[in-house]
Amino acid sequence: DRSIKIAPSILSADFANFGQEIEAIEAEGCDWVHVDVMDGHFVPNLTFGPPLVKAIRKHIKTVMDVHLMIAPVDPYIDAFADAGADVLTAHLEAGPHIHRTLQAIRGAGCKAGLALNPGTGVGDVAHLLDMVDLICVMTVNPGFGGQKFIHSQVDKVKTLREMIGDRPIHIEIDGGITTETAPLMAAAGADVLVAGSAVFTGGSVSNPAPYGQNIRAI
Ligand code: DX5
Ligand code: ZN
Repeated sequence: DRSIKIAPSILSADFANFGQEIEAIEAEGCDWVHVDVMDGHFVPNLTFGPPLVKAIRKHIKTVMDVHLMIAPVDPYIDAFADAGADVLTAHLEAGPHIHRTLQAIRGAGCKAGLALNPGTGVGDVAHLLDMVDLICVMTVNPGFGGQKFIHSQVDKVKTLREMIGDRPIHIEIDGGITTETAPLMAAAGADVLVAGSAVFTGGSVSNPAPYGQNIRAI
């Protein structure tokens, strides 16, 4: 379904060929590029920071969707905004002042995203709906690519879509998206699907055509 945006997670790219990998997924027709920032504290893995976002920005025109799996968030917002992030997504669980964090993200000129871990309910989201442009429903526990989709999140997405009503808020799904799980989430009301392993499998910078086939198959 082409009204659904596909956001490849560069966590599954070949890190030794980053520039070419990013250009390849853009050329192969991705809608957004998803950048997973991990701090080894909020999640048990380490990835990249603002300098990498800035370096990628020069290679692509596509929307850069930066998923911050870090705590605290606020000290780094300006650096990611200056690096060229379009969407900055913070976790509800990252600290006691998510309201302030979302204000700061919009204040820095980015679209504001709110991510929910699989174990987090939707209740608190009601008080934040007018401050967010995107809600990211995690369908794996954050930290690693290639994990198994958690099916209990399908109903969460349906509930969020009802809560959102006619507000212009994206629902993004992150983790375990495949050709089997993508249609479930589209039917539940998601409109942005992050996919790491499902996009990058079978291709490389010297053979990027599988990236496009994978994107279209989702
Ligand atoms: C997990 C990340 C995801 C992940 C998705 O912490 O936020 O973006 O890389 O990878 P797949 O699609 O392989 O589950
Ligand atoms: Zn992510």
